Amino acid sequence: MLILGILASGGGTNFQAIIDSIESGFLKADIAVLITDNPEAHAVERAKKHNIEPLVLRPKDFTDKNAYYSHIAGELRKRGVELVILAGFMRVVGKTLIDQYRDRIMNIHPALLPSFPGLHGQKQAADYGVKISGCTVHFVDEGMDTGPIIIQASVPAYHDDSEESLGKRILAQEHKIFPYAIRLYSEGRISINGRKVVITGERQDESMINPPLAHPHP
Ligand code: GAR
Repeated sequence: MLILGILASGGGTNFQAIIDSIESGFLKADIAVLITDNPEAHAVERAKKHNIEPLVLRPKDFTDKNAYYSHIAGELRKRGVELVILAGFMRVVGKTLIDQYRDRIMNIHPALLPSFPGLHGQKQAADYGVKISGCTVHFVDEGMDTGPIIIQASVPAYHDDSEESLGKRILAQEHKIFPYAIRLYSEGRISINGRKVVITGERQDESMINPPLAHPHP
């Protein structure tokens, strides 16, 4: 059974989607710990409700970024975590964690990378006026949302979209592709070849969950 460690800073709806996928049997994995940098994160309540250990670790309690992320890596390793999931973790992960979990950290980003990396991907896309946006699950490297892309989903974007309306449409897709990407990993179907993620036996619908024009205007 694949052992996951989740890092989240906020509401934790992606965390919840992963919990639900495990509970429904879609995803064969165990969540060993939920680590958050934010004591107020609703993700903590979700963890408690599902008997997952919550661990609050605040950067300000550590001497520097390296110390913070090597402590997190230690907590993950102690629990046998094999794959680290950034489910709305609003920080650029430090090298000390990346080094210990090279190619074993997945992040979800609310835009079609490489467009609109960094914070507020939904707002960046809405402000830019794109007609298609979406979300991306990728491996984490030292850059800002630059690691190899595992899976993406697209949604239409409209001229009158706000950050919220577009973000809501994107979030619904996030909840589908994140568990899906973890499932591909748990089945041993993912390997990395340079910038490219190779999915063994990839079907047409597996690297992009929904075609762009499949959704009517709400
Ligand atoms: C999600 O939209 C996720 O893609 C985004 O934060 C939100 C967290 O929602 N992550 C980033 O922007 C990372 N840079 P959630 O807490 O409800 O899962």
